[in-house]
Amino acid sequence: MSTTTAPTVTAHGITMPALGFGTFELDEATAEQAVTTALEVGYRHVDTAVMYDNEAGVGRALAASGVDRDAIFVTTKIRPRNAAAADVTPEIEASLARLDLDHVDLVLLHWPNDDVPVEETVEALHAAQERGLTRTFGISNHPTDLMRRAAAAGPVFTNQVEYHPFLDQSAVVDAARELAMTVTAYSPVARGGVFDDDTLGEIAANHDASAGRVALRWLLDQDGVAAVPRSSDPDHIADNLAVDLSLTADETARIDALPKDRRLIDPPFAPDWD
Ligand SMILES: NC(=O)c1ccc[n+]([C@@H]2O[C@H](COP(=O)([O-])OP(=O)(O)OC[C@H]3O[C@@H](n4cnc5c(N)ncnc54)[C@H](OP(=O)(O)O)[C@@H]3O)[C@@H](O)[C@H]2O)c1
Repeated sequence: MSTTTAPTVTAHGITMPALGFGTFELDEATAEQAVTTALEVGYRHVDTAVMYDNEAGVGRALAASGVDRDAIFVTTKIRPRNAAAADVTPEIEASLARLDLDHVDLVLLHWPNDDVPVEETVEALHAAQERGLTRTFGISNHPTDLMRRAAAAGPVFTNQVEYHPFLDQSAVVDAARELAMTVTAYSPVARGGVFDDDTLGEIAANHDASAGRVALRWLLDQDGVAAVPRSSDPDHIADNLAVDLSLTADETARIDALPKDRRLIDPPFAPDWD
């Protein structure tokens, strides 16, 4: 089966292209170049963050692309140090200035802040949404207990978490479905690790595809799951968008059965994961 329209995920009346373009670790100039390529080949969802220090480059690429602003879903993330109610709006406004946009589509709290209740941040993000600074909002790197608290405080669109064929995120995915939020998979090609895996390589060969496309398809086949692969290589950028392959039930089962204990992003300030 080939997919003729780009896959999407929806929550609380907002729809996001399920395949987005990540920009972590791309400096401003590289991000500008990579996002330019991404928009040229058809991505319509771009993921940045204050912490990536590249919003100005992303903004320049958006402006120069010639693509209608309304046709692009733009995500940024506020720093946990600015999770307190009084700091959320100024943090978003500074991002908008760097991006040269009057609103973004999604603002995430990048990591939990142990000193600020997540309810407080969610209420402040909700207020920013109501002011039109962002179309929706969410959280990132939040385990299920914090997801539940966040969802009880406002209409949280997504939890963006590390997710790829080598990490079990079933608790987060199940909780997200129960709480009417989506999951956005970061590091979806395991920071390049999927290209070294024999099982994914064999499945990729069946489809004359790359292991990256297989991993991305496996993620997008899960209800409510989106993914934001990153690359600065034009061929890889295009390849990662070509997820219109159809995995057999047996292939999906083989990927499901891979060991799922490889967490790649686990800084000292990370929460206790599920
Ligand atoms: N919320 C958070 O805390 C958080 C944390 C991490 C990441 N993220 C988001 O998720 C995005 C993706 O995660 P990530 O950047 O950690 O890792 P990733 O997308 O899983 O992997 C990126 C790496 O894979 C390589 N790669 C990508 N596509 C390839 C292809 N088709 N063939 C060969 N190599 C390929 C890239 O190299 P080349 O450049 O050479 O292609 C790069 O080294 C980030 O950019 C960011 O937007 C969010």
